[in-house]
This record gives sequence, C-alpha cells and structure tokens, in this order.
Amino acid sequence: MQFPDYRPRRMRRTVGLRRMIRETSLDIGSLIYPIFVVPGTKIRQEISSMPGQYHYSVDQMADLSKEIYDLKIPAVILFGIPQNKDSVGSEAWNDNGVIQKAIRTIKKHTPELVVIADACFCEYTDHGHCGVLDNGYLNNDASLENLIRTSLSYAKAGVDIIAPSGMLDGFVAECRSALDENNYTQVAIMAYSAKYASAYYGPFRDAAMSTPHEGDRKGYQMDSANVNEAIREITLDTSEGADIVMVKPALAYLDVIRVVSEESDLPVAAYNVSGEYAALRAAADRGWLDYERVVDETLLSIRRAGADMILTYHAKEFAKRMDR
Ligand code: PBG
Ligand code: ZN
Repeated sequence: MQFPDYRPRRMRRTVGLRRMIRETSLDIGSLIYPIFVVPGTKIRQEISSMPGQYHYSVDQMADLSKEIYDLKIPAVILFGIPQNKDSVGSEAWNDNGVIQKAIRTIKKHTPELVVIADACFCEYTDHGHCGVLDNGYLNNDASLENLIRTSLSYAKAGVDIIAPSGMLDGFVAECRSALDENNYTQVAIMAYSAKYASAYYGPFRDAAMSTPHEGDRKGYQMDSANVNEAIREITLDTSEGADIVMVKPALAYLDVIRVVSEESDLPVAAYNVSGEYAALRAAADRGWLDYERVVDETLLSIRRAGADMILTYHAKEFAKRMDR
C-alpha cells in the first residue's frame, strides 16, 4: 500500500466514512461514577479541589442514585468520610457507618444500580495511612484482618462489588475466602491490582481528608517506573480470585493498561483519577481547553489502551451529554 494508489484520507472524508472505520467505542455502559459520602444530613457540598464533584450525606443517596440510574450509568463506587477517625480506622467496619447506610439506601431505591465499595482505611485512620501502623510501617496482616471485617460489613449491607484499594498483599485471597465462608459467594471483587504511588491522587486526598500525616504511600503502592511488577500483581490477584483487575491512575499509565489488557483474560478497569479530572477542569475553567472535547478524547484514549471499564468523575456529565 503506497501513495498515490492508497490514500488514507479517502476514508476520512465524511462523517459516515469516519464512523465506518472507527476502531474504538465509548459508551455509558463502560463508566463507573465515584461518590463521596459524608456524615450528617442535607449535605451536598462542592469539593474545592474537584469542581463539579460533591460531598453528599446519606439522605441524598436516593435522589442521586435515581439520577445516575436514569442516566444509564451502570455502577457507582463509594468512598466514605467517617464521623470519627482512630488509629486503626474502626469506623470502616461499623455496620451503621456512612458507607453501610449509603449501600442500603441505594439498594433500596435503585436495586439494579451496581454498588461498588472502595475498601480502605486511609479515610478512617487518624494518621491517614491505609491500615494499621507499626512504628511507621504498614502492618500488612493486621490490616488484612480489619479489611475482612470491613468487607463482610459491606457485604451484609448489600454491596455488589468490593474494591480493596490499600495494596495489601493477599487481600484478594483473604477477602474471597471470608466472603465465601459467610455465604457471600455472589459478592465480586474488583482488585486495585496495579495501583501506583501517584501525585495525581492529590485532589482526592483533599476530598477524602486522607493525606498521610507523616511519610507517603510508597511502602505499599507501586513505583511509577514499573510495568513488569504490574503483571506480577495482576497474576497474583487473578490467581487469588479477583473478578476485575484495575490499573490506577489511567493517563500516565496507558502503556500499563495496554499490557494488562493483553496479558489478562479478566475484565480490566482503569481509574481516571482525581488529579486527571481536576487538571482538565481547571484548564477548561480558564478557557484554555474545550472541556467536552478533551473529556471525550481522554476517555477514548483509556478505552483504546484496552480498558473495559473506566472509573471517572466525568461519568455524569458525559452521560448527560450523550442523552441529549
Ligand atoms: C484510597 C484511595 C485513593 C484513591 C482511591 N482509593 C487515594 C490514595 O490511595 O491515596 C484515589 C482516587 C482518586 O485520586 O481519584 N486508598
Ligand atoms: Zn487507602
């Protein structure tokens, strides 16, 4: 195939021709919308580091879940901000915690909306790390015990999918067997398998009040330089019984998404994180970028890299736009 016999522009000439050769699709069915749940009532407060995203109290969940369900977004992922923090994050496994109440409310009003609960402790501990600390070091196995308590409490509340995000070793195996032993065989696990220690989580940590007071998360989250390690993590989580594997963040790790989607036969999720959202939003708010076009291009790039589903703060606006 050579010019002048072959002219690629021939198939780009009209909208119809371009549609015919489109290789990647982006539809609402691939999106998962993150929600921040806070204690209190009648709260719908914009998050300053993430314009367009809100802190919601549990009583807002009925309206919000109906709105999301009507937009045909299949799933939400919940993050909780507790009333009280302590050294181990025990609010996380309180059967009457904000997440447990939010799960019950959403399932009551929109039973078909898939509810995913992020299971971690950084929002719940007074030091801001993702579990139990021993002299500044995250104690893996002690944190795992609490993760099991938390997962069972979410399962009891009626969650569809548990998404443990703390990068603890063995979390998929331990959660799976605890769920199965307690007759929650139907609850799925979305594994944050390749989660990198990333500065792109900055706005989320403001929103979730989960910045570590001392140190960072490099002792448990992955080094940005590594891709073989991502495959090892994916392989482990797959053998431990994960139903979905995730790469996070998405944009600086599109190559990781590509490799993971080629290597794994499980569905692959990618998390288009808070900093990726905030960066586009901020530039668009200054008039420097066309918001809708960069959102489409961004989400499409994550699908093109190989993600089957995308966790994204853009989900609601994108779905509204597709609807009209
Ligand atoms: C909690 C958690 C984080 C995110 C999802 N779950 C933050 C972190 O690891 O510090 C980040 C999500 C985002 O930035 O949008 N472990
Ligand atoms: Zn955490």
